Amino acid sequence: MQSKRAGSQTAQAAASRQGVVSVRLIGRPAVSPVCASKKVGRVTPAARRADTIKAQSAATIDKTAAPSVTPSSNGAGTRVMIIGGDGYCGWATALHLSARGYSVCIVDNLCRRQFDLQLGLDTLTPIASLHDRVRKWSEVSGKHISLQIGDICDWEFLSQAFTSFRPEHVVHFGEQRSAPYSMIDRQKAVYTQTNNVVGTLNVLFAIKELAPECHLVKLGTMGEYGTPNIDIEEGYLTVTHNGRTDTLPYPKQGSSFYHLSKIHDSTNMLFTCRAWKVAATDLNQGVVYGVRTDETMADPLLINRYDYDGIFGTALNRFVVQAAVGHPLTVYGKGGQTRGFLDIRDTVRCIQLAIDHPASRGEMRVFNQFTEQFSVNQLADMVSREGRKLGLDVVVQSVPNPRVEAEEHYYNAKHTKLVELGLQPHLMADSMMDSLLEFAVQYKERVRHELIKPAVDWRKTGVKVNTMGAAVAQ
Ligand SMILES: NC(=O)c1ccc[n+]([C@@H]2O[C@H](COP(=O)([O-])OP(=O)(O)OC[C@H]3O[C@@H](n4cnc5c(N)ncnc54)[C@H](O)[C@@H]3O)[C@@H](O)[C@H]2O)c1
Repeated sequence: MQSKRAGSQTAQAAASRQGVVSVRLIGRPAVSPVCASKKVGRVTPAARRADTIKAQSAATIDKTAAPSVTPSSNGAGTRVMIIGGDGYCGWATALHLSARGYSVCIVDNLCRRQFDLQLGLDTLTPIASLHDRVRKWSEVSGKHISLQIGDICDWEFLSQAFTSFRPEHVVHFGEQRSAPYSMIDRQKAVYTQTNNVVGTLNVLFAIKELAPECHLVKLGTMGEYGTPNIDIEEGYLTVTHNGRTDTLPYPKQGSSFYHLSKIHDSTNMLFTCRAWKVAATDLNQGVVYGVRTDETMADPLLINRYDYDGIFGTALNRFVVQAAVGHPLTVYGKGGQTRGFLDIRDTVRCIQLAIDHPASRGEMRVFNQFTEQFSVNQLADMVSREGRKLGLDVVVQSVPNPRVEAEEHYYNAKHTKLVELGLQPHLMADSMMDSLLEFAVQYKERVRHELIKPAVDWRKTGVKVNTMGAAVAQ
């Protein structure tokens, strides 16, 4: 597949030229990723003692945060490659696993940062460069995370990354993950599908050729299922048809070119599990909210990104920022759209559970990774209620729905498998108590109001390249 790779050309070209990067960490000699993984793999008693992360300067970030953690070393040096480790879920996961003794290598081409530059967006929280983040993590925790900057669609880069790091698990977050972004114009639809499908295909080929024992943990989305008028199962559905019974992949009905890219990924994974005996876990993740994990709050330079704009912001994160700055909560249409949600603290735990209990060779396991389901109206009510407790004047406003989706529908999705493995969910009501709103209020001076409104209309997606910045104002 050939395409112009939208927006990220500068960063990607630079990244590809750089190839595999070895990062010099403060107080440590420069090491190659191979050496780094071996070094972290040996967990000495001294290193165990150093596990206690000091909550340096955390009070300057969030007065309610209590980030002092004493992680165990149950990772025992297991080599985990985190593709997309500079992103929202990936960064929190990289630190969570590193803190627990896994040997972590982040692979990222930094295209997410390039999308912000391309569209004039910014995260609510000021995030440090990936290199600075990793250096600071080393200082704070005594743990080394190796870094490989490049594009997984570039086979030469990816194969080199695999050969040098020799992952036992690959956690694949590294995709263009915004449905609105994929619906801006033809170019971005093609970019999204090329980036996501080719990237995942390359990962599957890398596992087959270079690391056949490696377990793939791939982030899919609950959005792959759509909103069927029957219960949503975890990946598979047993069907009796004309007197015969079979267990088949659950029907998928994506509602954007982004969601469709995830469905193609799942199909390619299922095929390679059968054909090549790849071991894979497909995590159909719900909408993630929150920003704080113990590790990302341990220092201002480790803080995670928080997107609130109309393109990359997810529902609850957006409502919380809107409430904090006195903008009406923008409910799309009737607001009956119901989805699964989870706290970022549960995302990182789910990934660890998937790694600690890997799929077998040839198995394509599917977990629905969310903890609670809510309609958009329920979210708006919850944010309004909690906002008022903080003295905020919260107004809810129905705006024309820019998406093509059912606004009132049945929704009952199963999500028991991760709980069976030991997940203890953080529930949304408690997270609100944990001051998601107070956090947004703390950063409200950084909010740019023009980025809040819905930015991309599904019905208007066309071939004309939309070059407008500031969240594609229409
Ligand atoms: N955030 C959510 O609410 C949510 C919900 C469901 C599923 N997911 C899935 O979880 C994953 C992570 O989501 P996120 O919110 O952290 O996204 P994100 O955009 O913050 O992070 C993705 C990271 O992948 C990198 N990346 C993208 N394409 C790459 C490529 N070709 N080569 C190397 N790196 C590449 C980006 O630079 C970025 O750092 C995605 O696959 C997404 O579809 C996220």
